[in-house]
Amino acid sequence: MSALETKKASWHPSILTTEILDHCPESCRRILDGTLGDGGHTLALAQKFPRATILATELDPEMLKRAEQRLQLAGQKVEIVSYPFPDTLPAGIFLCGRSYADIEEADQFDFILLDLGVSTYQLREAGRGFSFHDDLLDMRFSKDGPTAAEILNDSSLSVLTEILKSSYLPAKAAQLAGRLIKNRPYRSARELTRLFGSTSRKHHPATLIFQALRMAVNQESANIERALQQMPPLLSVGGRLAILSFHSGEDRSVKQSFRLLGQNNFRLLTRHAIKPGYQEVQQNRQARSARLRVVERLADNET
Ligand SMILES: C[S@@+](CC[C@H](N)C(=O)[O-])C[C@H]1O[C@@H](n2cnc3c(N)ncnc32)[C@H](O)[C@@H]1O
Repeated sequence: MSALETKKASWHPSILTTEILDHCPESCRRILDGTLGDGGHTLALAQKFPRATILATELDPEMLKRAEQRLQLAGQKVEIVSYPFPDTLPAGIFLCGRSYADIEEADQFDFILLDLGVSTYQLREAGRGFSFHDDLLDMRFSKDGPTAAEILNDSSLSVLTEILKSSYLPAKAAQLAGRLIKNRPYRSARELTRLFGSTSRKHHPATLIFQALRMAVNQESANIERALQQMPPLLSVGGRLAILSFHSGEDRSVKQSFRLLGQNNFRLLTRHAIKPGYQEVQQNRQARSARLRVVERLADNET
């Protein structure tokens, strides 16, 4: 068995891969994967479009190393850009916030993919606080900014309530924020989990708290809003932007933004979000909340 096959079981199971490949333009020559992760989607794209140039960006240095190794083992050449993304790189806009008034043709992509959220490795093995039993409570994808523990231990009631509103209705968010403050400080994910009881239940009550904290630590909502503004102009004519989200608020932002694009020189390819089928969810529970939406850039005279 090859080294790649030995490792296979532990790679992040890429979600809706067939549907993503099916939405890639046939004549795809330049691709951007803005969330490389374990490189699963990148690998599938590289195999389907062997002549395409692929650029991939990733915030987490650990993920980057894993993906590099995987792509190397598979013999695939991909240009990988790590964080901090250089100012000169349009792909870095997912984070660095540079705006591109005049985009050169060379900067344009025929396909852009964003697979939002967290990889299985980060969730189960990284030990950085994404998981209930971790010794740390960090949760940062990159090494920038405050950790989850710092946010949890230092934030005011109103800030914590605001953070929890990404996963809860306002009254519940305020109530939970008060409870979290009463039991501070927290040094590990384990201590945070313990506050909400046994982890043997199928849907542990701390799940949504972990999700809200992770989103706040990595400023995920702000990054997505920025990407929704700045990625569509990076598409070539006929180019497509595909976004896979796992949170209802994020999917709502993508849906609204794509609807607006649909009135302005873009065509919605997914009137309703594509969801994983029964079999994919059976094989990978993480897929159950996935929603895929795709938009295509039209020529100026096509609308
Ligand atoms: C769900 S995983 C991607 C999995 C990947 N599609 C695969 O098939 O292996 C999401 C990845 O995006 C990364 N990420 C999150 N926000 C990012 C950003 N603003 N820029 C670049 N990478 C980001 C995370 O570190 C994580 O590794």
